[in-house]
Amino acid sequence: MTATILIIDDEESIRDTLAGILTDENFTPLQASCAEDGLEMLSREHIDLVLLDIWMTGMDGLEALKEIKQRYELPVIMISGHGTIETAVEATRIGAFDFIEKPLSYDKIILSINKGLHVARLERDNRLLRDSSPSKPNLTGVSPVITQLRKQIDMVAPTDAWVLIRGGHGTGKELVAQTIHHKSARNHRPMIEVNCAAIPEDLIESELFGHEKGAYTGATGSRQGKFDQAHGSTLFLDEIGDMSLKSQAKVLRILQEQKFERVGGNKTIHVDVRVLAATNKNLENEIEKGTFRADLFYRLNVVPILVPSLSDRLADIPLLVHDFLQQFRKKGLGEKTFSDDALGTLMQHNWPGNVRELRNLIERLVIMNPSLTITGDDVAFFLGTTPVKAPATCPLQPEYLHLNFKNARKQFEHDYLKTKLIENAGNISKTAEQIGLERSHLHKKLKSLDIDLENSP
Ligand SMILES: Nc1ncnc2c1ncn2[C@@H]1O[C@H](COP(=O)(O)OP(=O)(O)OP(=O)(O)O)[C@@H](O)[C@H]1O
Ligand SMILES: [Mg+2]
Repeated sequence: MTATILIIDDEESIRDTLAGILTDENFTPLQASCAEDGLEMLSREHIDLVLLDIWMTGMDGLEALKEIKQRYELPVIMISGHGTIETAVEATRIGAFDFIEKPLSYDKIILSINKGLHVARLERDNRLLRDSSPSKPNLTGVSPVITQLRKQIDMVAPTDAWVLIRGGHGTGKELVAQTIHHKSARNHRPMIEVNCAAIPEDLIESELFGHEKGAYTGATGSRQGKFDQAHGSTLFLDEIGDMSLKSQAKVLRILQEQKFERVGGNKTIHVDVRVLAATNKNLENEIEKGTFRADLFYRLNVVPILVPSLSDRLADIPLLVHDFLQQFRKKGLGEKTFSDDALGTLMQHNWPGNVRELRNLIERLVIMNPSLTITGDDVAFFLGTTPVKAPATCPLQPEYLHLNFKNARKQFEHDYLKTKLIENAGNISKTAEQIGLERSHLHKKLKSLDIDLENSP
């Protein structure tokens, strides 16, 4: 994606020459012949960097610099024909990124622009990454439903399609959004998240679209919204079912046209944003009640992804527990293991709070339980259920017990091979050697069990 650079200079010949050079260097130049026009363009367009002349009729460069720095976080390079040390110092104090004198050395200008863009990107990404987890998102599980989910993610992630992620509380909707972003071409920038339910209704528009100075009481300066911040990246609208009808109308417009207006502004801003939305609400019901727009639903629902409930993938519990134990170990919560009875008891629960509830329970058990091995009794005590005893003569995971012989064998082969593949980081030769099978035999077996080799971690 090319960076857009605004040239503010009252000399037409300079603007034209600069614009020509910028185009040659693959930038998108915009021109303004005075500071007032430049400020107007800044409020309307998504601009990455400004080249600003110091001496201009009307508002001069230093005054314009002050205005720009108050309102936007972007690098400004000053250019001047009559530069004095004092103006250069003053410009730097106000926040200019660089100061270049006329006659302009074009190499110097391009170098400075590239440096300015680089620093701005680093600063912005640092700011955004500070709160988010830097590690690669990891959807744990080998059950057929989670394998299917992974396939869907792999298909949709590289496209620019908007995705509606649905599923119950704590099923992993946010993790799915992070995985889609991570596997997309936009992953060099952080995903921007907005929790629509956590923001008061009267502030959500300003949060999403930004506002102009004086848009409402207390709006002392103008502010970029999340759509601006997500330019070139992904915006995750969490709990979209809780968004007001007014905001829904605006979101719909962005979906159609990739442009919007700030609150209190009448200028249209263009952005390139991919939106992922999530909800645990039944949007069809909300449409019937008149609280969710049908047209937005149909546009968003082009690629629907349903995250399964944990009760539909109880077979994943041992792997999830293993994962969480490792995470807690890294946090210094100690080395604990779960006995087979403990895992069996966890697999008998129906988990209304899904993976989040499971994770919280494991954490609580790890912290509160004094012994190194957590037993079925310990789990049952915390869950308020009865422990499942895995009899010594029948060390079977409970989920196999309701299957007939053929299906139980197939399910076992599937789970066993998938788990072994994961242990060996997807390496088939290593897995074959570890479990004592011919490589070609294992390969055939994996195919017949529909185990996705490409997506084996
Ligand atoms: N398949 C999975 N593998 C590993 N961890 C998971 C998985 N699914 C969910 N989790 C973990 O469970 C917790 C809840 O997940 P997440 O926040 O993505 O769910 P959610 O559906 O957005 O929840 P809510 O409805 O509460 O917003 C997180 O700690 C997440 O890392
Ligand atoms: Mg969530």
